[in-house]
Amino acid sequence: MRERREELDELARGLARTPKTVSSRYIYDERGSELFEAITRLPEYYLTRAERGLLTRIARGLIGEVQPRALVEFGAGSARKTRILLSAMTEGGRAAVYVPVDVSEDFMFDTARRLRDEYPSLKVRPEVADMTRGLRPAARPPAPCIYALLGSTIGNFTHEEAVRMVAGLSSGMRDGDVFLLGADLRPGPGKSLESLEAAYNDAAGVTVEFNRNLLRVLNARFGTDFDPSRFRHRAWYDAANTRIEMHLEALSAHAVALPGGPVISFREGETLRTEISCKYNRAAVSSLLEQAGLEMVRWWTDEGCRFALALGAVTSGGGSP
Ligand code: AVJ
Repeated sequence: MRERREELDELARGLARTPKTVSSRYIYDERGSELFEAITRLPEYYLTRAERGLLTRIARGLIGEVQPRALVEFGAGSARKTRILLSAMTEGGRAAVYVPVDVSEDFMFDTARRLRDEYPSLKVRPEVADMTRGLRPAARPPAPCIYALLGSTIGNFTHEEAVRMVAGLSSGMRDGDVFLLGADLRPGPGKSLESLEAAYNDAAGVTVEFNRNLLRVLNARFGTDFDPSRFRHRAWYDAANTRIEMHLEALSAHAVALPGGPVISFREGETLRTEISCKYNRAAVSSLLEQAGLEMVRWWTDEGCRFALALGAVTSGGGSP
């Protein structure tokens, strides 16, 4: 299979780098998605609760202002927070279209079925797509449309990747369409470095399992022989790059075989980077949107200044019909 070959080559290239790196794309298999769901309920992981609180606060005002006929949500997952927006959109039995877009169809179709029951005036049109290939739904939704990328999903991408993704979206946005982005914030007044790092180093060890699960995914997918018990979880805030780095650190020197490829040797204490989670401030989000052809028209933060929602709109004169 050609695709598998390319993926294996990419894996080999990542493992040849310093530090060793593997694409975080593989983190969300079924078990990984379950573990992430568990993470969102951890006391240390404030992101999900902060964003939900924010959405609850702004939903009616946002819907009143935009008057959307559609909501397209990238990386929809279980669509738990989405209900806040959908309730405001369909108030009084108003018709609306909801397009959840996710790589994994695991719970998307179940969720779609449940949402149709809950919101009789809602048309639900799920799409299976990999957002790293562009934030663009296959079918054009009715306008005005809210395109949403919530939950700090943007944080998994480098600045260049994020700009490219949002630019792909903005080039297809029309006047009146908006882009709603959920971004986690950098440490600052009201947000300690400790609380940020604790969100990625929970006491119950769920994040450890989440991180190690990636090695099981690689073993299943590529036939590698990573031994998860030979690695420990490490996550820290890299202030220079304004992001959380999540790594797996080899407890002792050992080698891992890559089928049809080189043997990968780990020194004791050597790490493998498994995920980045970029953190933002107002200027960084505004500049990301601007570089992607959007203007930031709203900015909201939670009371603790831990998490933000931003609204982008096509710059007047921009956007294609
Ligand atoms: C799903 C990418 C938003 O970066 O906070 C949680 C993933 N990694 N704990 C994040 C994650 C470790 C999460 N995102």
